[in-house]
Amino acid sequence: MTILITAGPTREPLDPVRYLTNRSSGKMGYAIADSAAAHQHRIILISGPTEIEIPDGVDFIPVETAAEMYAAVEKYINKADIAIFAAAVADYRPAEFQDQKIKKHGDTLTLELVKNPDILGSCRDKFHFTGTLIGFAAETQNVESNARGKLERKGCDLVIANDVSRADIGFDSNENEILLVYKDQTELIEKAQKSHLAHIILDLATKLHRTS
Ligand code: PMT
Repeated sequence: MTILITAGPTREPLDPVRYLTNRSSGKMGYAIADSAAAHQHRIILISGPTEIEIPDGVDFIPVETAAEMYAAVEKYINKADIAIFAAAVADYRPAEFQDQKIKKHGDTLTLELVKNPDILGSCRDKFHFTGTLIGFAAETQNVESNARGKLERKGCDLVIANDVSRADIGFDSNENEILLVYKDQTELIEKAQKSHLAHIILDLATKLHRTS
């Protein structure tokens, strides 16, 4: 099978030396890519900047901004049977890129941000993807209900929610604890190494694909 995976953060440039980003290390998405490559699937890994070595045997598409990730997903998604969105995409970017370094002036500086495209949310309506669609949900409260809202709004078959208010899991940790939110049920997978969870996620994804 061909599996498209997004991973890592996006970087939204403000001026030649500054950008807005988040704490995603890429570990969760790369663990899924490693696991899928070990099972002989074809992997298209679309990744924001990370410190992680590119897994062997994957088609690697490096991107920086949400707009670049959107364009890469649009280009490749219909080659995939399964798409898994583990990237932490910036919801907003600076309204303007300043060509010159922003100089220090007053005591405050107000930035105007504009909305980035929702990549996962574009897969069904805009990209016409009919394969198995799996999103993540990074939540700090009401984890299950927020994840269920994303499942419905974005047309996913499964949303994998993690509580990113916890320091021991989620962003940049080697471990995670995930809540699997399906259309008709919810299942908690207790805290474990991301490499172990990646095998579980891959197994579920391929089963979902076979039964859909
Ligand atoms: O990279 P690590 O350090 O290992 O951390 C893993 C993780 C915490 C980043 C990962 O487990 C995770 O939760 N990824 C999703 C982060 C996120 O942006 O969640 P969200 O709830 O804001 O977005 C919901 C879904 O829509 C996600 O699948 C996201 O990739 C996608 N999205 C969001 C915004 C946007 N503009 N486009 C998108 O495709």
